Amino acid sequence: MTEPKPHADTADPSDSTDWWRTGVTYQVYIRSFADADGDGLGDVEGMRSRLPYLAALGVDAVWINPWYPSPQADGGYDVADYRDVEPAFGTLDEGQRFIDDAHANGIRVILDIVPNHTSDRHAWFVAALAAGPGSRERARYIFRPGLGADGDEPPNDWEATFGGSAWERVTEPDGTPGEWYLHLFAVEQPDLNWDNREVRDEFLDVLRFWFDRGVDGFRIDVAHGLIKDPALPDLDLPEDHTPVISDRIDHPFWDRPQVHEVYREWREVADSYDPPRTFVAEAWVANAERLAAYLRTDELHTAFDFDMVRAPWRADALITTAQSSLESHALVGAPVTWVLSNHDILRHVSRYGRVQPRRGEDAVDVFSDPVGTPDVALGRRRARAAILFELALPGAVYLYQGEELGLEEVEDLPESVLADPIWELSGHTRRGRDGCRVPIPWTESGPSFGFGDAKPWLPQPAAWSAQSVEAQDGDPESMLSLYRDALRIRRSHPVLAHPVVAHSVVEGATSELEWLDMGQEVIGFRRAGGFTCIVNLSDSDIDLPAGDIVLTSVPVTDTIPSDVTVWLDTNTARD
Ligand code: NOJ
Repeated sequence: MTEPKPHADTADPSDSTDWWRTGVTYQVYIRSFADADGDGLGDVEGMRSRLPYLAALGVDAVWINPWYPSPQADGGYDVADYRDVEPAFGTLDEGQRFIDDAHANGIRVILDIVPNHTSDRHAWFVAALAAGPGSRERARYIFRPGLGADGDEPPNDWEATFGGSAWERVTEPDGTPGEWYLHLFAVEQPDLNWDNREVRDEFLDVLRFWFDRGVDGFRIDVAHGLIKDPALPDLDLPEDHTPVISDRIDHPFWDRPQVHEVYREWREVADSYDPPRTFVAEAWVANAERLAAYLRTDELHTAFDFDMVRAPWRADALITTAQSSLESHALVGAPVTWVLSNHDILRHVSRYGRVQPRRGEDAVDVFSDPVGTPDVALGRRRARAAILFELALPGAVYLYQGEELGLEEVEDLPESVLADPIWELSGHTRRGRDGCRVPIPWTESGPSFGFGDAKPWLPQPAAWSAQSVEAQDGDPESMLSLYRDALRIRRSHPVLAHPVVAHSVVEGATSELEWLDMGQEVIGFRRAGGFTCIVNLSDSDIDLPAGDIVLTSVPVTDTIPSDVTVWLDTNTARD
């Protein structure tokens, strides 16, 4: 196994087993990153060919969305075999070469594990259908008889996250209508039964399979799922509720306390490796305390902070969210894992380019189709300010491919190309998530802007020529240059590069960060060691405080304009 090497030009504190406390991880949505074999779909060799780009960007790790064999009913989150690579993406050998080459470039590899459900083409589910009721094969999933005289009503009123009932009736091997199985997502994604020891052992073995191949960690899909209330009680939701992934504590299938037992076992496996492997949870839970429970020292290392994703672009909201996350994580000694975008939610250029919820209004709804038209230029300006805000906070950061190019959500994809199961399952009422999954533009021209030789699986907007890597490379004022500069500085700056293990919380701050009182519409905070970050979210210019400028989201002179972030060294400052 090849060990990751530090980037040559820095004394890199993240080159340690604690790298995940401050590391910057780049999310690669494999279908849309780079297509080496010219079939219109991204692949493993395409990703491998772009490793120098990622190394030059300055990231510590990549997280790759599921690359396993899959019928792709839900972009690979319907896994048919957890120990191989999807033929459309490559081979297991190519996967191994990618892992080794990533390490040679100083980049760790995080895979995506999908434990809540398999594909309906997984050998286990095929066997469960064939074996019939009461069998050991069915006991790996959640099969139940239906209600009503003929058993033709689902066992309860649970809805699938993508729309429709969460239950599907099967035809038994003798041809009669039979039991129902639970699928919290698409019909093709039957939920596993985590009360079954065989299921638990299988996943421990899958972890070892990839850890033995040098994989550095896993992102855990729907980490707050897995365990269901065995009584399967009705939810009794009102008719007009909006689909949400978790909305309350004591839910019959989200964030149940027994799920923590699963992760304690996973942690033991990760810790048995040298260096220890790491986890990041995708857990949409009710609040920051519930999230921190996953990060106790014998459980997972990190979990995405989705509260920041839902926070509007408003100083009070961003401060409250950051502070609450920092406090709750400090109590368990875990770093906050900041994120602005991913493959499931509206790209943040398009979120921040819209009218923001005012005080007292609800948080941003990142799952529903957006309303209105974004001001993309404004969104990009705010996205520049947002990334500097995020990278200045203590903790780890995940970037979603294309955000470093300032890509916006593609909101006008023709209906005929929509591939997200949400489109069909919602009865064409929700367009789904394809708009944030459009292939990356690498070059200014060519049929797919350098993504590959064929027509890409989703069409790219013509205006993305100007957003391409080629167009931005070498332009010191481009978004790409801002990301490169920010990541380079973050790696070597004595304050920003310092891994924070905050255990204490004082009023209005954690031990590593102090908020500055700069009025209602300006964020200011100072990190221990003399580094200050100011974000001006007001409509007017503010005076630039004393200090040496480290980096700014747009060029500034002696004032900070609206929607601009400034990093200052304030060790020697006059303030
Ligand atoms: C969360 C993943 O990020 C999403 O893309 C997927 O559809 C669901 N989990 C179901 O696996």
